[in-house]
Amino acid sequence: MRISDASLDQIFHKARTANGFTDKPVPAALLQEVYDLARMGPTSMNCQPTRYVFLTTPQAKERLMPALMPGNVDKTKSAPVTVIVATDTRFYEHMPVVWHNPGAKEMFEGNAALAGGTATRNSTLGGAYFMVAARALGLDCGPMSGVDLAVSYRPEDQPRLWFEPLYNEALHLVVSASHPLARRRRVRMGELHQQRMVLLPRQFLTRQMLDDCFEAAGSQPQVVAELNSVGPMIELIRQTELAGIIPETAVTAGPDLSVIPLEEPRPMRTPGLLWTKGATRSPVIKHMADIIRRKAGSRR
Ligand SMILES: Cc1cc2nc3c(=O)[nH]c(=O)nc-3n(C[C@H](O)[C@H](O)[C@H](O)COP(=O)(O)O)c2cc1C
Repeated sequence: MRISDASLDQIFHKARTANGFTDKPVPAALLQEVYDLARMGPTSMNCQPTRYVFLTTPQAKERLMPALMPGNVDKTKSAPVTVIVATDTRFYEHMPVVWHNPGAKEMFEGNAALAGGTATRNSTLGGAYFMVAARALGLDCGPMSGVDLAVSYRPEDQPRLWFEPLYNEALHLVVSASHPLARRRRVRMGELHQQRMVLLPRQFLTRQMLDDCFEAAGSQPQVVAELNSVGPMIELIRQTELAGIIPETAVTAGPDLSVIPLEEPRPMRTPGLLWTKGATRSPVIKHMADIIRRKAGSRR
C-alpha cells in the first residue's frame, strides 16, 4: 500500500536540511522510537554495523564541538539532540547472532578489505535510515560530516593543508594459482605490458599512481575490468585469469592466490593525516590523531 502524499512530502519532497533548531526538548522515548525504526533498515548479510551515540546534554555536546568544522559549530549547538552516526569496525563479532551462516564471522575477520568496505557502506546506510525515520516521526535533521581532521593518501601539494605521513604501503601483484606469473618471486612493472588486468577506476589516486608506474616502465596493461572495491576484485582474480594490483595489507596469499612484490618502479602509497595549516588543534582532535597514529604504528 502506498503511503500518503502528505507523508512523502514530510519525508522527502519538503524535507530540507535544518540549519537551526528550536530549543524544544526531544523526549527520550521519541529517540528510542526513531532508533527502533532505523535499525530495521536492510544491511548486507544483516551485519548492522551502525552505532548511534545520542548527545542530549550541553556537557556531552561541548566535548564534540572542538572536532567540528567552524561552519558547523553554531548549528550543532542549537540542536536539542546531536546523534553521532558511527561505524563498528568489528561488527563481525556479532555475526553469529545476526546471521544464519556460522562462517560469516571468520569470513570478515580474515579479510580486512571486505570488512572495512562492508562496515562503511552499511553504516552510511544506517545514517540514511535514521534521517528517514526521524523525519517520519516529525523531527527535523541537519546532517553533517564536517570534522576538522582527515585521513587520506598523500595529495598533490595543497597550500592550505599539511600532510603527516603515517606509513608506507607497497602494492603487490595478485594472481590466481593457475596464472603464468603465479610462481614468480618478483615481477617488474615492465613485464605487465599487455597483461589482462582488473584495476581501480581512473579517478582513484591509487590508480593514477599505478598508471604513472606503468608509464615509467613503458608498459601498457590491458585493463579489462575496473572495480572500486578490493574484496570483489580479489574474488574476480581468484576465479579468472585476470591479474590485479592490491595493497599488501589488504590481501593474504593462499593456495589459490599468489601475492608477488612488484619492482622497477615499486608502487607505494602513503596514508597520512591531513591538517589545516595554522588551525588550533583541540584536545579531542589531538586525541583522535593519537589513536590513528597508534593504529598505524601497529601496521608498520
Ligand atoms: C553525509 C552528509 C554530510 C553533510 N555535511 C554537511 C556539513 O558538514 N555541513 C552542513 O551545513 N551541511 C551538511 N550536509 C547537508 C547537505 O549540504 C544538504 O543535505 C544538501 O545540500 C541538500 O539539501 P537539503 O538536505 O536541504 O535537500 C550534509 C549532508 C549529508 C547527507
